[in-house]
Amino acid sequence: MYALARSILFRLDAETAHGRALGALDLAYRLKLAGCLGGRRVDDPVSLMGLRFPNRVGLAAGLDKSADHLDALGALGFGFVEVGTVTPRAQEGNPRPRLFRLPERGAIINRMGFNNAGVDHLIERVKAARFNGVIGINIGKNLTTPVERAVDDYLICLEKVHAHAHYVTVNISSPNTPGLRNLQFGEHLDTLLGTLRDAGTRLDQAAGRRVPLAVKIAPDMSDEEVGLVAQSIARSGIDAVIAANTTVARDAVAGLPHADEQGGLSGRPVFEASNRVIRELRRHLPELPIIGVGGIDSGEAAVAKVAAGADLVQLYTGFIYRGPALVGECAEALKAGVARR
Ligand code: FNR
Repeated sequence: MYALARSILFRLDAETAHGRALGALDLAYRLKLAGCLGGRRVDDPVSLMGLRFPNRVGLAAGLDKSADHLDALGALGFGFVEVGTVTPRAQEGNPRPRLFRLPERGAIINRMGFNNAGVDHLIERVKAARFNGVIGINIGKNLTTPVERAVDDYLICLEKVHAHAHYVTVNISSPNTPGLRNLQFGEHLDTLLGTLRDAGTRLDQAAGRRVPLAVKIAPDMSDEEVGLVAQSIARSGIDAVIAANTTVARDAVAGLPHADEQGGLSGRPVFEASNRVIRELRRHLPELPIIGVGGIDSGEAAVAKVAAGADLVQLYTGFIYRGPALVGECAEALKAGVARR
């Protein structure tokens, strides 16, 4: 059924198709037909970061930036859904077109630029949601906030979402917000992570509930740079890493239509780059909770991500190409097979 829907949707411009698919999914959910779309919730509970995940397969950030489709997406069998990236104020994002398919490589290039309805809207949507899996809220900064003041935006978001998130992800790895990725390095990283972890601890104490903080990093790092990130994470007490975001590299798609579009490349071409970052993080921090994302398009690929060192996985581009059936396939493969460390 998804193959048929896809053949229709893929004739449309990518962002239009994306909007229509989410609209149809919401409708199916309201009509209680979401179960017919091929997703199924595999029961394979895992405890990580003090949270209990119904299974190891999550939806990656960026598909539901404002939490408008949380219940419908959750009904497809995900053990956890990460909404966002959300910013303090609503923003339009970059001009269209800003989303491109590269079907020859099972890939997407996007330069959405954190288009979202703002953190207050997202919170109202999360409060109204009935999804009973784990909800992560991914936070970022507004385009107009200078990078030197980025921490202010992350603090605003953290304070607002703390009461409504099971975990919070600090996204410093989008290639589509100028200067954001500089926050991944050196003193910037120590200051940012330290400030947010302190603020998180204060909020935890006031609420009597611990909300773990994850940081999401790019795959475009040398092994040495990953090592430095690992040290900074260990110093700051950040609870988890999500590896990885989209890549700015283009070697895997060179010569294909859209390959030269500006933005972040996702899907099969980032699979290995993300695995390398995960292996390196795992080598430095054997106990660190790692959520592995990048290029998972089959149960086998999900198992390989865990073999590289991930505890949980997330899907995005593979889910666009394969549809809801991929969720159950990955969760089942991880439950059954797993070459765990
Ligand atoms: C993303 N991704 C993303 N990540 C994030 O932290 N915040 C965001 O807002 C977005 N937005 C976004 C939009 C689009 C259109 C895509 C394709 C991706 C990155 C995503 O969560 C994931 O890290 C990468 O896409 C790699 O995983 P896949 O897509 O290869 O499974």
